[in-house]
Amino acid sequence: MNLTQKILSRHVVRGELVAGKEIAIRIDQTLTQDATGTMASLQFEALGCDAVKTERSVSYVDHNTLQMGFRNADDHRYLQSVANKYGIVFSPPGTGICHQLHLENFARPGRTLVGSDSHTPTAGGVGSLAIGAGGLSVALAMAGEPYMLAMPKVVNVHLTGKLQGWAAAKDVILHLLGLLTVKGGVGKVMEYTGPGVATLSVPERATITNMGAELGATTSLFPSDERTREFFAAMGREDEWEALVADEGAEYDEVIEIDLSTLEPLAACPHMPDRVVPVRELAGLKVDQVAIGSCTNSSYADLKMVSMLLKDKLVSTGTDLLIAPGSKQVLSMLVAEGALTPLILAGARLLECACGPCIGMGGSPNSAGVSARTFNRNFEGRSGTQDGQVYLVSPQTAVMLALRGEFTDPASWGTPPALPQLPDEVPSIRHLFIFPAENAKDLSISRGPNIVPLEQFTKLPEQLEIAVQLVLEDDITTDHIMPAGPQITALRSNVPAISEYVFSRTDSGFVSRMKEAGQGVIVAGENYGQGSSREHAALAPRHLGVKAVLAKSFARIHRANLVNFGILPLMFESKEDHAEIQLGDVLSIPCSQIVPGGSCSVLKNGSEQIKVMNDLTEKELDIIQSGGLLNYVRQSIER
Ligand code: F3S
Repeated sequence: MNLTQKILSRHVVRGELVAGKEIAIRIDQTLTQDATGTMASLQFEALGCDAVKTERSVSYVDHNTLQMGFRNADDHRYLQSVANKYGIVFSPPGTGICHQLHLENFARPGRTLVGSDSHTPTAGGVGSLAIGAGGLSVALAMAGEPYMLAMPKVVNVHLTGKLQGWAAAKDVILHLLGLLTVKGGVGKVMEYTGPGVATLSVPERATITNMGAELGATTSLFPSDERTREFFAAMGREDEWEALVADEGAEYDEVIEIDLSTLEPLAACPHMPDRVVPVRELAGLKVDQVAIGSCTNSSYADLKMVSMLLKDKLVSTGTDLLIAPGSKQVLSMLVAEGALTPLILAGARLLECACGPCIGMGGSPNSAGVSARTFNRNFEGRSGTQDGQVYLVSPQTAVMLALRGEFTDPASWGTPPALPQLPDEVPSIRHLFIFPAENAKDLSISRGPNIVPLEQFTKLPEQLEIAVQLVLEDDITTDHIMPAGPQITALRSNVPAISEYVFSRTDSGFVSRMKEAGQGVIVAGENYGQGSSREHAALAPRHLGVKAVLAKSFARIHRANLVNFGILPLMFESKEDHAEIQLGDVLSIPCSQIVPGGSCSVLKNGSEQIKVMNDLTEKELDIIQSGGLLNYVRQSIER
């Protein structure tokens, strides 16, 4: 077996390990971060469990650590109280970035991890099968429910040789992105093998698995070997290490060969992580800002290297250099070794151990400014500056650009220092985590005014007599349904408040019509709900009383979200019927006659018949009839 099959076979509870087939796996660990964690926590609370059922669940605060107004601070208090009550470890704001902290303190070889953040696969650097998922999936995993996924294909990324000169681990994953594109890993696990693996330390491996998310991969995985044991020993948790490698002669669906010794410094150009070119080809491009940190490149070795390169030098006067260590462990090591002094004296600005500029929390570049970043994403506007030009590079390259003030050919940079290695022992920051209380059943939850418990949705009735409250054309996105923007997303833990914005940019009368009627059906065209996977685009309409959507077709993820929140997704049998329905028409939907994958007749205004069909499975229909997935799981927990 390959390593992926080995770990999955230890965890599979339903299904066969055949590529493309649905499997259910037991989850050992979960992680959440504050931006997604509040909703995951509300969903977990709604399940009615006494405590998490995982071996380890951790709640990190790293995204919204700049406290503007009361909402972020309230969120942090809420997350801390949920953690304390339900057996979750809490990592307070400023302790570090979730993935860096999880790698250092909790990730274990052979364990399964789901996290409500797309870069959860970072933990694959120590051989943990780690998957990024939606908040609801993470809440369910905390309640002990298996995680469902389509069995991925397994790609063998076979590494030979050793990195040379200025090439770094970041260049390995940038090289793969250039080769495979941002869609190249979809439905696949990238499993690293070959003699080149032993030349990479755990933090270097974690840089690669972290950015495997940009390939669209389900996850990325390194074996757990002697280098991994050394890392665990340095972290003071050698007892949590185990050796775990693929069998000799294991089979893979695809093989990609990379000779590490042939790689050179690379950069991903605006605005996609796969627009990769050699750094030398950008020579002459002025650099306004350099930002070093993020869950991709903020380990001790990364920042020690930065410190060595900046020693006795001065950052170019035209360039702003920002540095954010990934964790307080990294920061305390730099302090102890005097390695912060060169950064400070070179003119760098030190930021908190948090995500910071990666999501535009401070450190946005100037208008149309060029920013070279050691991060993983360079999508348009993500930096907080709509026309900012973000290039993704390694820490070594980032420092050289900050010193020169422009892109230059690495051939002119001289000889790089050897990559620093972790000392045999590093200071522990375990005492900074807040471990949950014992006998916590009666503890209360701290809920600011912006944190509202989820309501329990009613079951689907046998028959719906329901008015059409909105008629839409083709290609409606989740952005149309639930618009984003700082003012709106700040309300993500307050469903009644965020629901006021449903379709606000498409039809400003929709919310008041829904409130007056108490319930309604939406009629839509092709591909309803395409775009981002936003759960609130189903949750908020359901709060307003949307019971069914009748469309020509649905986007896959949104359709799943509709099912999860108990909204019936029906399709026209004859697409021309879409034109026959108008706002205010009353539809009689015989819900009790709906069978999985079947069709039935809906009566319009008591007379005209419209044929509708569905592509629901039996389980999905059960979920909708229960009033959504939370009700469905709650019932099974109670049973
Ligand atoms: Fe944070 Fe950016 Fe990573 S937002 S979790 S540093 S991708």
